[in-house]
Amino acid sequence: EGGPLTDLHGRRHNYLRISLTERCNLRCQYCMPPEGAVLSPRERLLTRGELARAVRVFAALGVDKLRLTGGEPTLRADLADIIQDLTSIEGIKTVSMTTNGLVLTRRLPALQRAGLAALNVSLDSLRAERYEHMARRPGLSRVLAGVDLALQLGYRPLKINTVLMKGFNDDEICDFVEYTRDREVEVRFIEFMPFSGNAWDDSKMVPYRAALRTILQRFPDLRPLAPRPNDTARVWQVPGHAGTVGFIASMTQHFCASCNRLRLTADGNLKVCLFGAAEVSLRDAMRAGEPDARLEQLVRAALRRKLPQHAESREHEESADGAHRRLALGAAPA
Ligand code: GTP
Ligand code: 5AD
Ligand code: SF4
Repeated sequence: EGGPLTDLHGRRHNYLRISLTERCNLRCQYCMPPEGAVLSPRERLLTRGELARAVRVFAALGVDKLRLTGGEPTLRADLADIIQDLTSIEGIKTVSMTTNGLVLTRRLPALQRAGLAALNVSLDSLRAERYEHMARRPGLSRVLAGVDLALQLGYRPLKINTVLMKGFNDDEICDFVEYTRDREVEVRFIEFMPFSGNAWDDSKMVPYRAALRTILQRFPDLRPLAPRPNDTARVWQVPGHAGTVGFIASMTQHFCASCNRLRLTADGNLKVCLFGAAEVSLRDAMRAGEPDARLEQLVRAALRRKLPQHAESREHEESADGAHRRLALGAAPA
């Protein structure tokens, strides 16, 4: 068939998120049980060579943006080599990474030399004790130093991901806005999302409107910036602040209609939606000696199964907007 990766709902997919490992050096309460995630044996993970091969196939299909994630991607000892491989693939314009920031002061210079173009850092609290409670490990000062180094090295915009949880860090919203006063960072407040095993509880989610109201009380001049295509966040700025503030409303105002993402799990499964199941193992296909043309077929077939939107958001949507969207999109089967 040829042509770009357009799904049955007209969305073109040019953005691939690649998990490099399931391991992490933190144990954030909303993400993992205290003992850590159940890990696949190392030989089940995609190797550096397999990653490059898979990405070449996606690049030939129009993917031009990669994001390396985890677990914690910096736990891959071969991360710099992987970045170097992937940045040199024809068609790939940007290789970016989402990290907890713990080891940036030590590793970022080499990652930058390897070609890392952009960086998102997770940071849920600016208070050391609370950070340690949340992550079940200390680390705040290292993350803050990592952010400062990234700014020095020229990473702009440097995005900070802050998952808001009621009764835990929602009293720090304005502190995070304050943090943008002198730093060219984009702090993005994220609505806590349900994942199996993360002890999701509706009552912990802070809807973006509530966070926005809190900020407007203290910073009444806050103003919206023009939206960027395919952005997960709606971005605002306090006039005079070096940085900006964004909201990722995955639950109350999901952005599925403009979704351009595919995902590759650390063990080589393709997922067409964050909330969906694994569709197909590209690792197995590669290890069975299948040619690129077959990998391409598997990717296209999986994309045909992508639903118009994820199911979890629906009961949380703001009703008018949500109902309108459902009519416009056709609801996904429950
Ligand atoms: P940019 O490429 O810089 O826009 O990054 P990103 O926001 O896509 O990625 P990041 O890894 O920083 O993810 C931040 C948050 O965005 C995550 O916690 C999720 O809440 C949300 N997110 C990322 N990708 C998706 C997605 O495909 N669907 C949904 N619903 N949320 C997503
Ligand atoms: N809900 C919302 N965001 C989450 N993240 C991890 N788990 C959740 C969740 N349940 C965030 C991390 C990281 C980004 C990739 O996803 O904080 O910044
Ligand atoms: Fe795309 Fe699924 Fe995320 Fe919606 S939930 S934006 S469809 S990946």
